[in-house]
Amino acid sequence: MNRADPSYTLAPPLGDIPPDALRPLLHQVADWAADYRAEIESRCISPRVEPGEIAAGLPGAMPDNPEPLQAILADLDERVMPGVVHWGHPSFLGYFGSTSNGPALLGEVVAAALNVSAMTWKVSPAATELETVVLGWLRGMLGLAPEWEGIVYDTGSVAAMHALAAAREALGLDVRRRGLSARPELPKLRVYASDQAHSSAEKAAIALGVGEENVRRIPTDAEFRMDVGQLRRALYEDERAGCRPLAIIATVGTTSTGSVDRVDEIADVCAERGVWLHVDAAYGGAMGVLPEGRWALHGCEHADSMVVNPHKWLFVPLDFSVLFTRRPEWLRRTFSLVPEYLRGDAGGNEAGERDYMDYGIQLGRRFRALKAWMVFRAFGRSGIEARVREHCRLARLWSSWVDAEEEWEMLAPTTMSVVCFRHSPAGMTSAEVDAHNEAIAARINKEGELYLTHTKLRGRAALRIGLGNLLTEERHLRAAWERVRAAAGQRG
Ligand SMILES: Cc1ncc(COP(=O)(O)O)c(C=O)c1O
Repeated sequence: MNRADPSYTLAPPLGDIPPDALRPLLHQVADWAADYRAEIESRCISPRVEPGEIAAGLPGAMPDNPEPLQAILADLDERVMPGVVHWGHPSFLGYFGSTSNGPALLGEVVAAALNVSAMTWKVSPAATELETVVLGWLRGMLGLAPEWEGIVYDTGSVAAMHALAAAREALGLDVRRRGLSARPELPKLRVYASDQAHSSAEKAAIALGVGEENVRRIPTDAEFRMDVGQLRRALYEDERAGCRPLAIIATVGTTSTGSVDRVDEIADVCAERGVWLHVDAAYGGAMGVLPEGRWALHGCEHADSMVVNPHKWLFVPLDFSVLFTRRPEWLRRTFSLVPEYLRGDAGGNEAGERDYMDYGIQLGRRFRALKAWMVFRAFGRSGIEARVREHCRLARLWSSWVDAEEEWEMLAPTTMSVVCFRHSPAGMTSAEVDAHNEAIAARINKEGELYLTHTKLRGRAALRIGLGNLLTEERHLRAAWERVRAAAGQRG
Protein backbone atom coordinates (compact mmCIF):
# COMPACT_ATOMS: atom_id res chain seq x y z
CA MET A 1 0.00 0.00 0.00
CA ASN A 2 1.35 3.36 -0.89
CA ARG A 3 1.10 6.40 1.39
CA ALA A 4 -0.71 8.44 -1.25
CA ASP A 5 -3.58 5.98 -1.16
CA PRO A 6 -6.54 7.82 0.49
CA SER A 7 -7.67 4.59 2.11
CA TYR A 8 -4.34 4.30 3.95
CA THR A 9 -4.72 4.31 7.74
CA LEU A 10 -2.33 3.82 10.55
CA ALA A 11 -2.62 0.49 12.25
CA PRO A 12 -3.81 0.56 14.95
CA PRO A 13 -6.09 3.51 14.25
CA LEU A 14 -5.37 6.96 15.63
CA GLY A 15 -5.84 7.67 19.30
CA ASP A 16 -4.98 5.60 22.34
CA ILE A 17 -5.27 1.88 22.63
CA PRO A 18 -8.87 0.93 23.51
CA PRO A 19 -9.66 0.80 27.24
CA ASP A 20 -10.66 -2.85 26.99
CA ALA A 21 -7.25 -3.70 25.62
CA LEU A 22 -5.59 -1.58 28.28
CA ARG A 23 -7.40 -3.09 31.24
CA PRO A 24 -5.69 -6.51 31.28
CA LEU A 25 -2.33 -4.85 30.70
CA LEU A 26 -2.90 -2.55 33.65
CA HIS A 27 -3.78 -5.56 35.76
CA GLN A 28 -0.63 -7.26 34.53
CA VAL A 29 1.46 -4.22 35.50
CA ALA A 30 -0.30 -4.07 38.88
CA ASP A 31 0.67 -7.70 39.47
CA TRP A 32 4.16 -6.97 38.26
CA ALA A 33 4.55 -4.09 40.72
CA ALA A 34 3.11 -6.06 43.63
CA ASP A 35 5.39 -9.01 42.79
CA TYR A 36 8.36 -6.69 42.55
CA ARG A 37 7.65 -5.27 45.99
CA ALA A 38 7.06 -8.78 47.39
CA GLU A 39 10.27 -10.23 45.99
CA ILE A 40 12.55 -7.24 46.17
CA GLU A 41 14.51 -8.66 49.07
CA SER A 42 15.67 -11.63 47.02
CA ARG A 43 17.18 -9.45 44.30
CA CYS A 44 20.81 -8.56 43.85
CA ILE A 45 20.91 -4.83 44.65
CA SER A 46 23.55 -3.77 42.14
CA PRO A 47 23.22 -4.83 38.53
CA ARG A 48 26.03 -6.80 37.00
CA VAL A 49 26.14 -4.90 33.77
CA GLU A 50 28.91 -3.33 31.80
CA PRO A 51 28.53 0.27 30.65
CA GLY A 52 26.46 0.37 27.48
CA GLU A 53 25.17 -3.18 27.91
CA ILE A 54 21.56 -2.16 28.56
CA ALA A 55 21.44 0.23 25.61
CA ALA A 56 23.03 -2.39 23.38
CA GLY A 57 20.24 -4.83 24.26
CA LEU A 58 17.53 -2.41 23.15
CA PRO A 59 16.51 -1.66 19.59
CA GLY A 60 18.80 1.08 18.34
CA ALA A 61 16.20 2.89 16.27
CA MET A 62 12.66 3.83 17.12
CA PRO A 63 10.26 1.37 15.50
CA ASP A 64 8.64 2.61 12.30
CA ASN A 65 5.49 0.65 13.01
CA PRO A 66 3.39 0.06 16.14
CA GLU A 67 4.59 -2.70 18.42
CA PRO A 68 2.38 -4.79 20.69
CA LEU A 69 2.42 -3.64 24.31
CA GLN A 70 2.78 -7.22 25.44
CA ALA A 71 6.14 -7.41 23.69
CA ILE A 72 7.25 -4.11 25.16
CA LEU A 73 6.35 -5.27 28.66
CA ALA A 74 8.31 -8.47 28.09
CA ASP A 75 11.35 -6.36 27.24
CA LEU A 76 11.00 -4.61 30.56
CA ASP A 77 11.90 -7.81 32.39
CA GLU A 78 14.44 -9.08 29.94
CA ARG A 79 16.22 -5.92 28.89
CA VAL A 80 15.56 -3.14 31.38
CA MET A 81 15.41 -4.82 34.79
CA PRO A 82 18.95 -6.24 34.54
CA GLY A 83 20.21 -2.64 34.67
CA VAL A 84 18.19 -1.50 37.69
CA VAL A 85 19.77 -0.74 41.08
CA HIS A 86 17.17 -1.78 43.62
CA TRP A 87 16.95 1.33 45.76
CA GLY A 88 13.88 -0.11 47.49
CA HIS A 89 15.76 -3.21 48.71
CA PRO A 90 15.71 -3.29 52.52
CA SER A 91 19.50 -3.60 52.56
CA PHE A 92 20.05 -0.63 50.29
CA LEU A 93 21.59 1.65 52.89
CA GLY A 94 23.17 4.17 50.54
CA TYR A 95 22.36 7.88 50.46
CA PHE A 96 19.06 8.51 52.27
CA GLY A 97 17.25 5.36 51.26
CA SER A 98 14.28 6.95 49.54
CA THR A 99 11.74 4.26 48.94
CA SER A 100 8.50 3.46 47.21
CA ASN A 101 5.53 1.99 49.02
CA GLY A 102 2.03 0.73 48.38
CA PRO A 103 -0.01 3.89 49.00
CA ALA A 104 2.40 6.00 46.94
CA LEU A 105 2.25 3.55 44.07
CA LEU A 106 -1.53 3.88 43.98
CA GLY A 107 -1.21 7.66 43.96
CA GLU A 108 1.28 7.57 41.10
CA VAL A 109 -0.97 5.40 38.96
CA VAL A 110 -3.97 7.65 39.51
CA ALA A 111 -1.90 10.79 38.86
CA ALA A 112 -0.67 9.28 35.58
CA ALA A 113 -4.23 8.44 34.53
CA LEU A 114 -5.46 11.95 35.32
CA ASN A 115 -2.40 13.77 33.96
CA VAL A 116 -3.67 17.17 35.08
CA SER A 117 -1.42 20.18 35.28
CA ALA A 118 -1.54 21.86 38.69
CA MET A 119 -0.61 25.27 37.34
CA THR A 120 -3.72 27.27 38.25
CA TRP A 121 -6.66 26.60 40.51
CA LYS A 122 -9.13 26.93 37.66
CA VAL A 123 -7.57 24.26 35.49
CA SER A 124 -6.84 22.02 38.47
CA PRO A 125 -8.95 22.75 41.53
CA ALA A 126 -8.45 19.31 43.05
CA ALA A 127 -4.69 19.19 42.46
CA THR A 128 -4.27 22.73 43.79
CA GLU A 129 -6.39 22.25 46.88
CA LEU A 130 -4.93 18.84 47.65
CA GLU A 131 -1.46 20.38 47.45
CA THR A 132 -2.50 23.06 49.95
CA VAL A 133 -4.04 20.43 52.22
CA VAL A 134 -0.98 18.16 52.13
CA LEU A 135 1.32 21.13 52.77
CA GLY A 136 -0.83 22.03 55.77
CA TRP A 137 -0.54 18.48 57.11
CA LEU A 138 3.21 18.51 56.69
CA ARG A 139 3.43 21.89 58.37
CA GLY A 140 1.40 20.49 61.25
CA MET A 141 3.55 17.35 61.51
CA LEU A 142 6.68 19.51 61.73
CA GLY A 143 5.13 21.88 64.25
CA LEU A 144 5.52 24.95 62.03
CA ALA A 145 3.31 28.00 62.59
CA PRO A 146 0.49 28.69 60.08
CA GLU A 147 2.41 31.68 58.69
CA TRP A 148 4.66 29.21 56.84
CA GLU A 149 3.31 28.73 53.35
CA GLY A 150 4.53 26.00 51.08
CA ILE A 151 4.86 24.81 47.54
CA VAL A 152 5.84 21.44 46.10
CA TYR A 153 8.76 21.23 43.69
CA ASP A 154 10.49 18.21 42.28
CA THR A 155 13.74 18.30 44.26
CA GLY A 156 15.52 19.99 47.13
CA SER A 157 18.04 21.50 44.73
CA VAL A 158 15.28 23.20 42.78
CA ALA A 159 13.66 24.35 46.04
CA ALA A 160 16.96 25.92 47.16
CA MET A 161 17.29 27.72 43.84
CA HIS A 162 13.80 29.19 44.24
CA ALA A 163 14.49 30.24 47.84
CA LEU A 164 17.66 32.05 46.83
CA ALA A 165 15.89 33.67 43.87
CA ALA A 166 13.33 35.11 46.29
CA ALA A 167 16.15 36.21 48.61
CA ARG A 168 17.86 37.93 45.70
CA GLU A 169 14.69 39.82 44.82
CA ALA A 170 14.21 40.81 48.45
CA LEU A 171 17.53 42.66 48.29
CA GLY A 172 15.73 45.36 46.30
CA LEU A 173 18.19 45.31 43.39
CA ASP A 174 15.45 44.89 40.80
CA VAL A 175 17.15 41.80 39.41
CA ARG A 176 13.97 40.21 38.18
CA ARG A 177 13.37 43.08 35.78
CA ARG A 178 16.86 44.27 34.96
CA GLY A 179 18.99 41.17 35.41
CA LEU A 180 22.57 41.19 36.64
CA SER A 181 24.58 41.76 33.50
CA ALA A 182 25.98 45.15 32.46
CA ARG A 183 25.22 46.66 35.88
CA PRO A 184 28.53 47.81 37.32
CA GLU A 185 26.74 49.49 40.22
CA LEU A 186 25.77 46.12 41.72
CA PRO A 187 27.76 44.68 44.62
CA LYS A 188 29.18 41.18 44.53
CA LEU A 189 26.53 38.93 46.04
CA ARG A 190 27.54 36.23 48.48
CA VAL A 191 25.87 33.13 49.88
CA TYR A 192 27.16 31.51 53.08
CA ALA A 193 26.90 27.84 53.97
CA SER A 194 28.97 25.43 56.03
CA ASP A 195 31.67 23.24 54.56
CA GLN A 196 29.25 20.34 55.13
CA ALA A 197 26.29 21.94 53.33
CA HIS A 198 24.92 20.34 50.20
CA SER A 199 26.26 21.26 46.76
CA SER A 200 22.80 22.51 45.80
CA ALA A 201 24.00 25.85 47.25
CA GLU A 202 26.53 26.16 44.43
CA LYS A 203 24.03 24.88 41.86
CA ALA A 204 21.60 27.63 42.90
CA ALA A 205 24.36 30.25 42.70
CA ILE A 206 25.26 29.03 39.22
CA ALA A 207 21.64 29.19 38.04
CA LEU A 208 21.03 32.62 39.57
CA GLY A 209 24.05 34.33 38.08
CA VAL A 210 25.64 34.72 41.51
CA GLY A 211 28.51 32.45 40.61
CA GLU A 212 29.77 29.29 42.19
CA GLU A 213 32.78 30.96 43.80
CA ASN A 214 30.51 33.36 45.65
CA VAL A 215 29.22 30.61 47.86
CA ARG A 216 31.48 31.02 50.83
CA ARG A 217 31.97 27.82 52.78
CA ILE A 218 32.26 28.34 56.52
CA PRO A 219 34.33 25.84 58.53
CA THR A 220 32.57 23.50 60.95
CA ASP A 221 33.25 22.48 64.54
CA ALA A 222 34.10 19.00 65.84
CA GLU A 223 30.48 17.94 65.35
CA PHE A 224 30.33 19.21 61.77
CA ARG A 225 28.17 22.23 62.65
CA MET A 226 28.79 25.64 61.16
CA ASP A 227 31.20 27.69 63.26
CA VAL A 228 29.11 30.79 63.87
CA GLY A 229 32.12 32.85 64.95
CA GLN A 230 33.74 32.11 61.59
CA LEU A 231 30.50 33.06 59.86
CA ARG A 232 30.57 36.45 61.56
CA ARG A 233 34.21 36.95 60.56
CA ALA A 234 33.46 36.01 56.94
CA LEU A 235 30.56 38.47 56.78
CA TYR A 236 32.69 41.23 58.24
CA GLU A 237 35.54 40.57 55.80
CA ASP A 238 33.20 40.45 52.82
CA GLU A 239 31.43 43.61 53.89
CA ARG A 240 34.74 45.45 54.01
CA ALA A 241 35.47 44.13 50.54
CA GLY A 242 32.19 45.59 49.28
CA CYS A 243 30.24 42.33 48.99
CA ARG A 244 26.58 42.01 49.92
CA PRO A 245 25.18 38.91 51.63
CA LEU A 246 22.36 37.36 49.62
CA ALA A 247 21.51 34.57 52.05
CA ILE A 248 22.89 32.35 54.76
CA ILE A 249 22.08 28.67 54.47
CA ALA A 250 21.86 26.69 57.69
CA THR A 251 21.62 22.91 57.42
CA VAL A 252 19.46 20.64 59.53
CA GLY A 253 20.78 17.19 58.72
CA THR A 254 23.88 17.41 56.55
CA THR A 255 24.34 14.93 53.74
CA SER A 256 27.40 13.17 55.11
CA THR A 257 26.75 13.02 58.84
CA GLY A 258 23.27 14.39 59.60
CA SER A 259 24.75 17.21 61.68
CA VAL A 260 22.53 20.13 62.66
CA ASP A 261 23.74 23.72 62.52
CA ARG A 262 22.89 26.02 65.43
CA VAL A 263 20.04 27.62 63.56
CA ASP A 264 19.08 29.93 66.43
CA GLU A 265 22.56 31.47 66.55
CA ILE A 266 22.69 31.79 62.78
CA ALA A 267 19.24 33.38 62.88
CA ASP A 268 20.60 36.01 65.28
CA VAL A 269 23.34 36.86 62.78
CA CYS A 270 20.77 37.12 60.00
CA ALA A 271 18.52 39.35 62.12
CA GLU A 272 21.40 41.67 63.04
CA ARG A 273 22.39 42.11 59.42
CA GLY A 274 19.04 41.79 57.72
CA VAL A 275 20.09 38.72 55.74
CA TRP A 276 17.72 36.07 54.37
CA LEU A 277 18.00 32.81 56.32
CA HIS A 278 17.38 29.67 54.32
CA VAL A 279 17.34 26.33 56.12
CA ASP A 280 18.22 23.18 54.24
CA ALA A 281 16.23 20.61 56.18
CA ALA A 282 15.86 18.44 53.08
CA TYR A 283 16.80 15.35 55.05
CA GLY A 284 16.72 16.36 58.73
CA GLY A 285 13.39 18.16 58.63
CA ALA A 286 11.75 14.76 59.07
CA MET A 287 13.03 14.69 62.66
CA GLY A 288 10.42 17.35 63.39
CA VAL A 289 7.64 14.75 63.20
CA LEU A 290 8.92 13.26 66.45
CA PRO A 291 8.23 15.10 69.71
CA GLU A 292 11.71 13.98 70.80
CA GLY A 293 13.12 15.14 67.43
CA ARG A 294 11.81 18.71 67.48
CA TRP A 295 15.15 19.91 68.85
CA ALA A 296 16.47 19.58 65.30
CA LEU A 297 14.20 22.42 64.11
CA HIS A 298 15.03 24.71 67.01
CA GLY A 299 15.58 28.21 65.64
CA CYS A 300 13.99 27.44 62.28
CA GLU A 301 10.98 29.51 63.29
CA HIS A 302 13.13 32.58 62.55
CA ALA A 303 14.08 31.47 59.03
CA ASP A 304 12.75 33.04 55.86
CA SER A 305 12.59 29.78 53.96
CA MET A 306 13.14 26.12 54.59
CA VAL A 307 13.27 23.07 52.35
CA VAL A 308 12.03 19.67 53.51
CA ASN A 309 12.21 16.66 51.20
CA PRO A 310 9.49 14.13 51.98
CA HIS A 311 11.13 12.02 49.26
CA LYS A 312 14.13 11.57 51.52
CA TRP A 313 12.73 10.45 54.85
CA LEU A 314 8.97 10.91 54.93
CA PHE A 315 8.13 7.99 52.68
CA VAL A 316 6.89 9.89 49.66
CA PRO A 317 8.80 8.52 46.67
CA LEU A 318 10.75 10.68 44.23
CA ASP A 319 10.11 13.32 43.43
CA PHE A 320 8.53 15.47 46.13
CA SER A 321 10.28 18.38 47.76
CA VAL A 322 8.63 21.17 49.75
CA LEU A 323 9.74 24.75 50.09
CA PHE A 324 8.18 26.47 53.09
CA THR A 325 8.53 30.20 53.42
CA ARG A 326 7.35 32.91 55.76
CA ARG A 327 7.75 35.40 52.95
CA PRO A 328 5.73 33.91 50.09
CA GLU A 329 5.15 37.38 48.66
CA TRP A 330 8.81 37.47 47.59
CA LEU A 331 8.54 34.15 45.84
CA ARG A 332 5.50 35.45 44.06
CA ARG A 333 7.08 38.77 43.18
CA THR A 334 10.01 36.86 41.72
CA PHE A 335 8.11 34.37 39.61
CA SER A 336 4.56 35.46 38.95
CA LEU A 337 4.17 36.11 35.25
CA VAL A 338 0.83 35.55 33.56
CA PRO A 339 0.93 35.57 29.77
CA GLU A 340 -2.20 36.56 27.90
CA TYR A 341 -3.21 33.04 26.96
CA LEU A 342 -3.35 32.04 30.65
CA ARG A 343 -5.20 35.08 31.91
CA GLY A 344 -8.64 33.53 31.64
CA ASP A 345 -7.57 30.61 33.83
CA ALA A 346 -5.47 32.54 36.34
CA GLY A 347 -6.34 34.42 39.51
CA GLY A 348 -6.84 31.61 42.03
CA ASN A 349 -10.33 31.55 43.51
CA GLU A 350 -12.54 33.69 45.72
CA ALA A 351 -11.70 31.60 48.76
CA GLY A 352 -8.10 32.73 48.52
CA GLU A 353 -6.69 29.60 46.89
CA ARG A 354 -3.58 30.35 44.91
CA ASP A 355 -2.24 29.46 41.49
CA TYR A 356 0.95 27.54 42.21
CA MET A 357 2.43 28.54 38.86
CA ASP A 358 2.98 31.99 40.43
CA TYR A 359 5.54 30.62 42.86
CA GLY A 360 8.12 29.05 40.62
CA ILE A 361 9.68 28.54 37.22
CA GLN A 362 7.46 25.63 36.28
CA LEU A 363 4.19 26.17 34.49
CA GLY A 364 3.06 22.60 33.94
CA ARG A 365 3.10 20.81 37.30
CA ARG A 366 2.45 17.13 38.02
CA PHE A 367 -0.24 16.16 40.51
CA ARG A 368 2.45 15.24 43.05
CA ALA A 369 0.27 15.95 46.06
CA LEU A 370 -1.82 12.87 45.33
CA LYS A 371 0.85 10.35 46.26
CA ALA A 372 1.76 12.32 49.41
CA TRP A 373 -1.91 12.50 50.37
CA MET A 374 -2.19 8.72 49.98
CA VAL A 375 0.99 8.08 52.00
CA PHE A 376 0.09 10.47 54.82
CA ARG A 377 -3.44 9.11 55.08
CA ALA A 378 -2.54 5.47 54.73
CA PHE A 379 0.19 5.59 57.41
CA GLY A 380 -1.30 8.36 59.51
CA ARG A 381 0.72 10.69 61.67
CA SER A 382 1.43 7.87 64.14
CA GLY A 383 2.63 5.58 61.37
CA ILE A 384 5.01 8.19 59.97
CA GLU A 385 6.31 8.93 63.46
CA ALA A 386 6.81 5.26 64.26
CA ARG A 387 8.83 4.67 61.09
CA VAL A 388 11.08 7.69 61.59
CA ARG A 389 11.57 6.72 65.25
CA GLU A 390 12.48 3.16 64.26
CA HIS A 391 15.10 4.41 61.81
CA CYS A 392 16.67 6.51 64.55
CA ARG A 393 16.70 3.48 66.83
CA LEU A 394 18.32 1.32 64.17
CA ALA A 395 20.97 3.98 63.54
CA ARG A 396 21.78 4.11 67.26
CA LEU A 397 21.89 0.31 67.36
CA TRP A 398 24.42 0.23 64.51
CA SER A 399 26.48 2.89 66.29
CA SER A 400 26.50 0.77 69.45
CA TRP A 401 27.87 -2.18 67.46
CA VAL A 402 30.63 0.02 66.07
CA ASP A 403 31.42 1.36 69.54
CA ALA A 404 31.56 -2.12 71.00
CA GLU A 405 34.14 -3.46 68.55
CA GLU A 406 37.83 -2.87 68.77
CA GLU A 407 39.35 -1.50 65.59
CA TRP A 408 36.07 0.11 64.55
CA GLU A 409 35.43 3.78 65.11
CA MET A 410 32.64 6.28 64.75
CA LEU A 411 33.53 9.33 62.67
CA ALA A 412 30.59 11.56 63.64
CA PRO A 413 27.89 11.61 66.29
CA THR A 414 24.71 9.76 65.29
CA THR A 415 21.94 12.32 65.59
CA MET A 416 19.42 11.00 63.06
CA SER A 417 19.35 7.95 60.78
CA VAL A 418 22.84 8.30 59.31
CA VAL A 419 25.91 6.57 60.72
CA CYS A 420 29.50 7.35 59.69
CA PHE A 421 32.10 4.85 60.82
CA ARG A 422 35.15 2.98 59.68
CA HIS A 423 37.44 0.08 60.23
CA SER A 424 40.74 1.21 61.61
CA PRO A 425 43.00 -1.79 62.21
CA ALA A 426 46.09 -1.31 64.33
CA GLY A 427 49.32 -0.97 62.40
CA MET A 428 47.89 0.64 59.27
CA THR A 429 48.94 4.11 58.20
CA SER A 430 46.12 6.61 57.73
CA ALA A 431 46.48 6.31 53.94
CA GLU A 432 46.17 2.54 54.26
CA VAL A 433 43.09 2.88 56.46
CA ASP A 434 41.51 5.12 53.82
CA ALA A 435 42.27 2.67 51.02
CA HIS A 436 41.08 -0.24 53.17
CA ASN A 437 37.68 1.38 53.85
CA GLU A 438 37.22 2.41 50.25
CA ALA A 439 37.92 -1.21 49.30
CA ILE A 440 35.34 -2.44 51.84
CA ALA A 441 32.64 -0.24 50.29
CA ALA A 442 33.58 -1.23 46.74
CA ARG A 443 33.62 -4.95 47.60
CA ILE A 444 30.25 -4.84 49.36
CA ASN A 445 28.49 -2.81 46.72
CA LYS A 446 29.78 -5.05 43.95
CA GLU A 447 28.48 -8.19 45.68
CA GLY A 448 24.96 -6.80 45.66
CA GLU A 449 23.56 -8.07 48.98
CA LEU A 450 24.06 -4.76 50.68
CA TYR A 451 24.67 -1.21 49.52
CA LEU A 452 26.35 1.55 51.45
CA THR A 453 28.00 4.87 50.71
CA HIS A 454 31.59 5.83 51.04
CA THR A 455 32.35 9.43 51.93
CA LYS A 456 35.21 11.58 53.21
CA LEU A 457 35.12 13.43 56.51
CA ARG A 458 37.88 15.92 57.08
CA GLY A 459 39.90 14.04 54.51
CA ARG A 460 39.39 10.64 56.16
CA ALA A 461 37.59 7.87 54.30
CA ALA A 462 34.35 6.85 55.99
CA LEU A 463 31.69 4.23 55.49
CA ARG A 464 28.18 5.60 55.77
CA ILE A 465 24.76 4.04 56.09
CA GLY A 466 21.52 6.00 55.77
CA LEU A 467 18.19 4.59 56.89
CA GLY A 468 15.02 5.78 55.23
CA ASN A 469 13.55 2.66 53.70
CA LEU A 470 10.42 1.47 55.44
CA LEU A 471 11.25 -2.15 54.56
CA THR A 472 14.52 -2.12 56.52
CA GLU A 473 14.26 -4.10 59.74
CA GLU A 474 16.69 -4.95 62.51
CA ARG A 475 17.40 -8.35 60.95
CA HIS A 476 18.61 -6.66 57.77
CA LEU A 477 20.93 -4.45 59.78
CA ARG A 478 22.31 -7.39 61.75
CA ALA A 479 23.06 -9.23 58.51
CA ALA A 480 24.56 -6.03 57.06
CA TRP A 481 26.85 -5.55 60.05
CA GLU A 482 28.09 -9.14 59.73
CA ARG A 483 28.68 -8.55 56.04
CA VAL A 484 30.63 -5.33 56.70
CA ARG A 485 32.79 -7.05 59.31
CA ALA A 486 33.45 -9.95 56.96
CA ALA A 487 34.39 -7.58 54.14
CA ALA A 488 36.77 -5.78 56.51
CA GLY A 489 38.43 -9.10 57.27
CA GLN A 490 39.09 -9.77 53.60
CA ARG A 491 42.26 -8.06 52.61
CA GLY A 492 43.63 -7.40 49.17
C1 LIG B 1 21.14 18.09 52.87
C2 LIG B 1 20.68 17.99 51.44
N1 LIG B 1 20.11 19.05 50.86
C3 LIG B 1 19.68 19.03 49.59
C4 LIG B 1 19.83 17.89 48.82
C5 LIG B 1 19.34 17.91 47.41
O1 LIG B 1 18.17 17.20 47.32
P1 LIG B 1 17.59 16.73 45.91
O2 LIG B 1 18.29 15.46 45.58
O3 LIG B 1 16.14 16.55 46.18
O4 LIG B 1 17.88 17.81 44.93
C6 LIG B 1 20.41 16.76 49.37
C7 LIG B 1 20.57 15.53 48.59
O5 LIG B 1 21.02 14.53 49.03
C8 LIG B 1 20.86 16.81 50.72
O6 LIG B 1 21.47 15.76 51.28
